[in-house]
Amino acid sequence: MKEDLEEIQRQALKALESASDLRQINQLKTEFLGRKGSITQCLRKISTVPPEERHVVGKLANEVKTRLEAAFKKAVGTLKAFDDRPADALDVTLPGRSAFRGNLHPITQIKEKIFEIFLRLGFEIVEGPSVELDYYNFEALNIPKNHPARDMQDTFYVSDDIVLRTHTSPIQIRVMEKQSPPVRIIAPGEVYRVDSDISHTPMFHQVEGLMVDEGVSFGDLKGILTTFVHQIFDANTSLRFRPSFFPFTEPSAEVDIRCVMCRGSGCRVCSQTGWLEVLGAGMVHPAVFEMVNYDTEYYTGFAFGMGIERIAMLKYGIDDIRKFYENDIRFLQQF
Ligand code: DAH
Repeated sequence: MKEDLEEIQRQALKALESASDLRQINQLKTEFLGRKGSITQCLRKISTVPPEERHVVGKLANEVKTRLEAAFKKAVGTLKAFDDRPADALDVTLPGRSAFRGNLHPITQIKEKIFEIFLRLGFEIVEGPSVELDYYNFEALNIPKNHPARDMQDTFYVSDDIVLRTHTSPIQIRVMEKQSPPVRIIAPGEVYRVDSDISHTPMFHQVEGLMVDEGVSFGDLKGILTTFVHQIFDANTSLRFRPSFFPFTEPSAEVDIRCVMCRGSGCRVCSQTGWLEVLGAGMVHPAVFEMVNYDTEYYTGFAFGMGIERIAMLKYGIDDIRKFYENDIRFLQQF
């Protein structure tokens, strides 16, 4: 019987340890200490104990009872204290909150992908000022003052001679002024135009490309841009070169890719044409080479310029350019 009592005590304390609310504690208390509880049941059998041992067993039974009563009382007390804790008390049992991890802005991510591709092709990254002289932004690119070609880009003028650059093309001039061929650069940066709707914002990003050397041909341009398109989209994306006009290139082309949404069958995004314009390009105009004193008898080159937002919108299927700048975390976290 001594062993029985010790076993009951052991079981009761163990059960109490895992009880997590008042209801469970009370239930256990009835189970062990109640009128029909295990201890009472055990004591009913005291008559089977030899008379000389009875007082020892009786004493032990009382001790167990007192010990358990104290344990139940303590458990209830602890639970009450927990429930009555101030609302702002620190609950050390809660799992920790993981730190919020940010990610790079989708425009930065696409820009870095473009860098990777051109770095592998042997291009260097160069930057230039975003508040630019009219000379670099227009004149040296074969766009004289008051020439109608200026209408192609609605410009923020800081003064008569200073503008917020409307494209990254002026970096071509700044590079060629300092460096003789061979030149193989890409130039990223933000550009500004007086324009705002679902596909235009007053500030956006471009990446310019320029390659000049002896014997650079339109075929090189096609090869480099085909490689680029296949790597930034995928190898099944076909592209086409459409004749176009830019004052600083001759011949000039606009490059279209097969619509990434409908794969060419025609949809709202490609205005039912099956093609999407992704960049402008061409062979550097001799008038531009003359501005930087490059020998046009020796050197030829190609240039291209693309909008980073445009590439990102096509790649991720985003239909409104303004989403990039609203700083809505729910949008930005998806990339
Ligand atoms: N600068 C042109 C624009 O912003 C894009 C462009 C077209 C850049 C042809 C080039 C080029 O270098 O060769 O619309």
